[in-house]
Amino acid sequence: MTEIKSSIIDGIETFEAEINGEKIEWDNELTYNSHLQTERLLSAQIGVSGKPDETLFIIIHQTMELWIKLCLHELGIVIECIKKDQLSKSFKTFDRIAAIQRHMIQSWEILATLTPHDFLTFRGYLRKASGFQSHQYRELEFLLGNKNKDLTVVHRDNKPVYEQLMKVLNAPSLYDETLKLLSKKGFVVPSKAIDRDWSEPYQSSPEIEEVWRLIYEDTEKYWELYMLAERVTALEYYFQEWRFKHMKTVSRVIGYSKGTAGSSGVDYLVKALNLSFFPELWSMRTKLSTTQEENNSKCPL
Ligand code: HEM
Repeated sequence: MTEIKSSIIDGIETFEAEINGEKIEWDNELTYNSHLQTERLLSAQIGVSGKPDETLFIIIHQTMELWIKLCLHELGIVIECIKKDQLSKSFKTFDRIAAIQRHMIQSWEILATLTPHDFLTFRGYLRKASGFQSHQYRELEFLLGNKNKDLTVVHRDNKPVYEQLMKVLNAPSLYDETLKLLSKKGFVVPSKAIDRDWSEPYQSSPEIEEVWRLIYEDTEKYWELYMLAERVTALEYYFQEWRFKHMKTVSRVIGYSKGTAGSSGVDYLVKALNLSFFPELWSMRTKLSTTQEENNSKCPL
C-alpha cells in the first residue's frame, strides 16, 4: 500500500500519495463526490418492480430530466441575451443547447434495446406514472411557446412546481422575446404579437412571416438576425426530432396500446409532431424568392 503524506495547505489538511507513478493530491474540504453529490445521485434509482430492465428505464428518464434541466438553464441565458440585444453572445449558448439536443436524440438508441417483452415485465408496476407528468418538459414547452394551461392541472398538488409553471406560462416565450426585439429594431411587428396575454398560445401572422422573409432575402444586411433565426429554427428542428424518436421508440416498445397516463399512446404523440413553436420561420421558407445577391450575379454588366 502506498504511503499517504499529510500537510496543511491554506489551512486545509491535504493528502498526497504516489499512485501509478503520479503524485496524487486530495483534501476532504471538497471532493469529487461531495461536489457532484454522487451518493445522492446514485441512490436515486429505486425501482418499483424488482425487474432487471427497470434500471435502464429509470436511468434513461433521469438522464433526460438532467439534460432538460440544463436546456432550461441555458435557455434562460439565451432569453436574457435576446432581451438585451446581445445576439452574438447568445449564439454560443444556442450552440450548446443544440449539442445537448443532439445528444438527447441519440440517447433514444439506448432505450430502443428495451424490447416489448422487457417492458411488459415491469409496465404494470408503473401504474399511471408517465412522462406526461414531467414538469420540466412542460416548462420547456412553455418557455419555447407551446402555451397550454390545461397541461398544468396534473401538477396542481405540487405548489412550488405549479407556481414555477404558472410563472413561465404567464411570461413571454423565447419567440415572443425575439419578436419584441425585431419590433425594437424597427421591423413592422403587429402590436398583438408584442403586447398580449402571454399565457395564450401564439397565433401566427402574415406580417411576421413578411419580417422573416425580408431578413432571409437580404442576409448581408441582416446577418445577425439571420443567424439568430437559423439557431431558433434549429432549436425546433431538434425538438421535433426528439419528439419523433420518442414516438418511434414508444411504438417499437408498446405498439398502439394506451399509455400509462391513459392517452391513446402513439396517436397522442403523433399529434404533438404538428405543434410548431416558431411557425413563421417555417412558412416563410416557402415564400422566399431569388435573393439580392443572385439578382446581382445575373446582371449582364
Ligand atoms: C419505453 C419507454 C417509454 C414509453 C413506452 C413511453 C410512452 C409514452 C406515452 C404512451 C406517452 C403519452 C402519455 C401517456 O398516455 O402515458 C408518453 C408521454 C411522454 N413521455 Fe414517454 N415513453 C417512454 C419513454 C420516455 C422517456 C425516456 C422520456 C424522457 C423524459 C419520456 C418523456 C415523455 C414526455 C415528456 C411525455 C409527454 C409528451 C407530451 O405531452 O407531448 N418518455 N410517453
